[in-house]
Amino acid sequence: MEIVLSGIRPTGKLHLGNYFGAVKNFVKMQETHNCFFFIADYHSLTTHPKPNDLHGIVKQVLAEYLAAGLDPEKATLYIQSDLPEIAELYLILNMNAYLGELERVTTFKEKARKQPENVNAGLLTYPTLMAADIIIHKANKVPVGKDQEQNLEMTRTFARRFNRMYKEDFFPIPQAYNFGEQLVKIPGLDGSGKMGKSEGESNAIFLADDPKVIRKKVMRAVTDSGPTKPNQEKPEPIQNLFSLLKVVSKPDVVDHFDAAYNNCSIRYGDLKKQLAEDIISFTEPLRDKILSLSGDEVAISKAARIGADKARESARKTIREVREIIGFRPF
Ligand code: TYM
Repeated sequence: MEIVLSGIRPTGKLHLGNYFGAVKNFVKMQETHNCFFFIADYHSLTTHPKPNDLHGIVKQVLAEYLAAGLDPEKATLYIQSDLPEIAELYLILNMNAYLGELERVTTFKEKARKQPENVNAGLLTYPTLMAADIIIHKANKVPVGKDQEQNLEMTRTFARRFNRMYKEDFFPIPQAYNFGEQLVKIPGLDGSGKMGKSEGESNAIFLADDPKVIRKKVMRAVTDSGPTKPNQEKPEPIQNLFSLLKVVSKPDVVDHFDAAYNNCSIRYGDLKKQLAEDIISFTEPLRDKILSLSGDEVAISKAARIGADKARESARKTIREVREIIGFRPF
């Protein structure tokens, strides 16, 4: 069976954009593929998080992905730092990764521009750590968005280089897997762009938001003064509200507001009220699960342990073979 692998950056709470983007597809894929999903906490050290903050966010992310439907019995869901084998493979790959090629990576150049005071070696070697993440399990398919394609190309380069240097066909060359068409683009509430793209909490609806917060955020969403001509094209902020309505409401509700827009009788207040209630009905079961899981230390540690055990078995096998191949042999 094909091995699918994906890394989750522990950056914050899950919002509707993450859910309809990657997460829903991960939940589907675990039924048909041998999936490895991990929380990339080694990677997050490039930004020097405070220890308690890091622990808290990793726990929260784990609880939220479990609540959203990732199943530790079906997929291998683990925390990256539970696998020191990844760090070892990273070190080995770094010996054949060159300054010039690492400096040319767009995500590195962007970060270096944004945080000139913290251009550390971890940032520069992000692609070798990402390569180690992927090839440690000999993954075949890696779901990535556009911005990560170059990093995946680097993985392919490092895997080929290792194969050429030591043993042809040892590491499979992983393929990018873009959800493309299956991906529903979820807009933010501030009138333009994707959910979660802009700063500030009010642009995104988080799965863990309580109903009061959801109502407040939706009621404050950007609109305009309303259509003036029948069948007018919807400007972006209005189209955004309709896009959200489409993912959480019944088709007849969408049709009702569409018709009201087209004959200029729409009242945005009514649309927002309906949208808020439908978002609440959609997120409430997820929110309940998140709340009960984040308070359940036993369930969280059990999931983390199951994941670490399964993932380590696979990582240990690869690292044993790599050590033998490169000449680290027991005396
Ligand atoms: P990030 O935070 O950009 O995205 C998180 C995960 O979401 C998935 N994804 C997509 N998959 C398919 N099609 C899309 N259009 C799409 N958009 C998002 C991806 O699976 C992505 O992994 N650097 C990575 C994190 C990372 C990683 C890895 C990913 C670290 N090590 C190893 C894959 C393999 C990142 O920033 O992902």
